[in-house]
Amino acid sequence: MDHFLYRDGALFAEDVPVSEIVAAVGSPVYIYSTATLERHFKLFDEALAGMDHLVCYAMKAASNQAILKTLAALGAGMDVVSGGEYARAKAAGVPGDRIVFSGVGKTDEEIRAALTGGIRQFNVESEPEMRAIDRVAQTLGVVAPITVRVNPDVDAKTHEKIATGKSENKFGIPIAKAREVYAEAASMKGLKVIGIDVHIGSQLTDLEPFRLAYRKVAELTETLRADGHEISRLDLGGGLGIPYERGNSAPPLPVEYGSMIKEELGHLGCEIEIEPGRLIAGNAGILASRIIYLKEGEGREFMIIDAAMNDLIRPAMYSAHHDIVPVQEAEPGAEQQPYDIVGPVCESGDTFAKGRMMPKLSEGDLVAFRSAGAYGAVMSSEYNTRPLIPEVLVKDDQFAVIRPRPSFDEIINRDTIPEWL
Ligand code: LLP
Repeated sequence: MDHFLYRDGALFAEDVPVSEIVAAVGSPVYIYSTATLERHFKLFDEALAGMDHLVCYAMKAASNQAILKTLAALGAGMDVVSGGEYARAKAAGVPGDRIVFSGVGKTDEEIRAALTGGIRQFNVESEPEMRAIDRVAQTLGVVAPITVRVNPDVDAKTHEKIATGKSENKFGIPIAKAREVYAEAASMKGLKVIGIDVHIGSQLTDLEPFRLAYRKVAELTETLRADGHEISRLDLGGGLGIPYERGNSAPPLPVEYGSMIKEELGHLGCEIEIEPGRLIAGNAGILASRIIYLKEGEGREFMIIDAAMNDLIRPAMYSAHHDIVPVQEAEPGAEQQPYDIVGPVCESGDTFAKGRMMPKLSEGDLVAFRSAGAYGAVMSSEYNTRPLIPEVLVKDDQFAVIRPRPSFDEIINRDTIPEWL
């Protein structure tokens, strides 16, 4: 459930009409709902009630400072994957002991920053990285808490570009090699092994792949404990999917996911961490855009809107579906027609939907992409020198710009000219 609903035919973000935000800020614009962000975080937090746990929001999904602060105020931890994300989490006031550091390519500089600023744990993805963390920690005279990310070789049954738990993927160490790697970790003076990490992919719409992976983690916990390692924390990654197509998909709920975790891992007495991103931010954001032209093609009508692939890359990159709805609802029974919904960028890939049935719309009308809060603004670019679009956060009947649209001058002046020109 989210807080983008129609009232008397007009789409609202909480208690604010979307058209009012666009009138004030312009289009296209990302609009987030505080109540939805909070609701989704709490669903996870409550799903794990009764177990010692921390929900670490995977901030790669949407990392605006205002979003981070909203979640941090509820006690969220953060899952970060770069020095930049670490700095963002700290700037939002998240204490180091609530920040976990994931990602396959942590540099010495990033490791040093996290060890200096405080870190809950590093999720180690390879042996060379483990040695690097040990080396940097010893140089600083500290001990780095780590888990090792294991690759359980489980098919997450999701889009191939966002599956991470198969042996052919670059993530983690093969689970069969875990005993060897933990033995090496235990011998390193700069490291303290505290647990195991796993993350098998994103937009999972079935609990079974999670269950298979977590079962393997449970077995490994027992094996490693028998080897003498202290395994007190299990980081189970993120990945629970969201319903991108209203009425057509119903992925498992956080509460069902939580029960499955208790069933598979509850007996181990470990602290549980999860790293959801999409389910917290995805349906907490929409992208509002204006129709520039309606253009008759051959046997089709193009709806050319002012948002493009640089603003929301998911359809072009993963053939992802986003529901696109009119901001002013059509009359019940209004005539529908198919549209090819495209942006102004000079590529045929700049297509959001083909043959999408919508009520008949006019040039100048507003449309909204649902489920655009996760992997939307964060993956945008200024391709075609289209300024990064603004982000707005709504809370009840208030809204605030949380990232302004840059001017052309700001964009141009970011470039520097060598003296020979
Ligand atoms: N933890 C780790 C280690 C991850 O790599 C990810 C996502 C998450 C947690 C959060 O997963 P989530 O709960 O959001 O599914 N850009 C793609 C999704 C990439 C996901 C990358 N890793 C998309 O737009 O679908």
